[in-house]
Amino acid sequence: LHAHTQRRFSLPWLVPQFPPVPDAQKNKKSKAKQEPLRMPSQSLFNKSIALLFSKRSTRTRVSAETAALLLGGRALFLGREDIQIGVNESVRDSARVIGGMCQGIFARVGEDSEIEELARYSPVPVLSALSNLWHPTQVLADLLTLHDHAHLFDATLHPPSAKQRLAPGLAPLRPLTVAWVGDSTNILHDILVSFPRLGHSVRVATPGKEAYQCPEPVRKRLDGLGLTMGGEEEGKGAEHIVWTDDPRVAVKGADVVITDTWISMGQEEEKAQRLRDFAGYQVTEALCKEGGAKENWVFMHCLPRKAEEVDDEVFYGPRSLAFPESDNRKWTIMALFE
Ligand code: CP
Ligand code: NVA
Repeated sequence: LHAHTQRRFSLPWLVPQFPPVPDAQKNKKSKAKQEPLRMPSQSLFNKSIALLFSKRSTRTRVSAETAALLLGGRALFLGREDIQIGVNESVRDSARVIGGMCQGIFARVGEDSEIEELARYSPVPVLSALSNLWHPTQVLADLLTLHDHAHLFDATLHPPSAKQRLAPGLAPLRPLTVAWVGDSTNILHDILVSFPRLGHSVRVATPGKEAYQCPEPVRKRLDGLGLTMGGEEEGKGAEHIVWTDDPRVAVKGADVVITDTWISMGQEEEKAQRLRDFAGYQVTEALCKEGGAKENWVFMHCLPRKAEEVDDEVFYGPRSLAFPESDNRKWTIMALFE
């Protein structure tokens, strides 16, 4: 197996048991020197998970299908055009029927209420693969990627050696300042409800219009978690989340700068207006320098990416963690299935 893959298999929260390869056990002489091969658990053996996707997907779909395979199970991709849901059959009946045949449902939907409805009527667990409001599995990958690169934020840490890369566990990550520049999307909402609870402060810049502010259900969730949000001046640094309409203010002191598309799935008709409203929000070296981001700031993006929200210099440059972040979708979704 590829070393990277082995490393992922060795994460204790991913695979509770590491059965050594039988041949390695038999060969006693070389056993002491040999690292046991980390094999993924077969916890999905003979099990199926339905991928109920009503929107496009590359990363989430490929991660889910390949992760299910590694765990010994089967993912069934059920696109909007393939099954009866929404056309000839209600969400409620579909949840009961699919849940009667599969051991889990991973669903990508439009309105978040559809996930809630699936969960209400499904006899098996329902996981969110994205809704208009949330994208929880993306943020698991983002956090894992930051832990993988903890040495970039802490001069006392070194890049992990080959041996360390195979050892179980995550590198400790110091509290980071994370800046978001762009739209208030599903990705941001999950960052808001998770990063501050792990000690990271979040600074957000969206255009001032009402349409681009934090939606009410997200605000309620933040309130429920005791997370505070305010302008740069209001909390004088005490807020968990600073929210502004000035990208330069958002990137001040940032270790990490993150963005997402300005036109999420389902908003295609608003494209022209959105391109006008987001003028000046493109993530560039110049913006981050002007705003006072840390010298070694890193860039993240859930993908798919358009050049309007981040230029090529940043996206394809040495600061960008976008592709390792994309790779980590698979290992985190595998952990979730496990
Ligand atoms: N980041 C992400 O969810 O990508 P896909 O839409 O391609 O799954
Ligand atoms: N905000 C984007 C994320 C895509 C992964 C969307 O919902 O289209």
